[in-house]
Amino acid sequence: MNNLLKIAAFSLAVIAVYTLFSVKYVPDMKPEAPPKDEAIDLSSMGLEGFTALGEKVYNGKGACTLCHNPVGGRAPLIEDIAAVAAERLKDPKYKGAAKDTEGYIRESMINPSAYVVAGFGAAGTDDTVSPMPDVTSGAIGLSELEVNAVIAYLQKKAGVEPTAMKAPAEAKE
Ligand code: HEC
Repeated sequence: MNNLLKIAAFSLAVIAVYTLFSVKYVPDMKPEAPPKDEAIDLSSMGLEGFTALGEKVYNGKGACTLCHNPVGGRAPLIEDIAAVAAERLKDPKYKGAAKDTEGYIRESMINPSAYVVAGFGAAGTDDTVSPMPDVTSGAIGLSELEVNAVIAYLQKKAGVEPTAMKAPAEAKE
């Protein structure tokens, strides 16, 4: 046998051994089932559970703390926003349609440019356009229920009675 044939035979033997090995000994890989949206049972949840869900969304899926945190300076701190909202609504710069604290926070999340906190507008817009995304669309994509939970959480955090708790039937989507 010339060398070329020897190399070819050797290669084939190696491939055969590996194939046999992988067929016989490597366990089948089963892809994991796609993550299900956590089932939310509002009827058993109570206010505590609802604000806890809000906190989880705030720190997780909502990505709020990505911008609203004490170190980055990208966005104002909103720990006491539920107490500050009344002032926002009275501000002549306010262009939105909210009537109360709950409405202001909801509007801030869905239509952030209705009021832009001084110094935090998108570059070159003189504080008329908010750099914050609509958190109910795009990559964050919060549901109405999650938005309500975040509002309730922010109200509780500011020491304000949560009003954003919808009756289970209403909040079901
Ligand atoms: C990409 C950065 C970013 C993310 C993510 C973000 N925000 Fe904001 N947010 C801002 C900036 C910047 C402002 C200030 C400009 C303005 O008033 O819109 C703001 C303003 C606000 C205000 C109004 C503050 C005030 O003093 O009137 C609220 C309320 C708020 N955000 C809530 C949230 C919540 C809740 C989330 C998560 C669900 C969130 N934000 C996610 C950047 C962000």
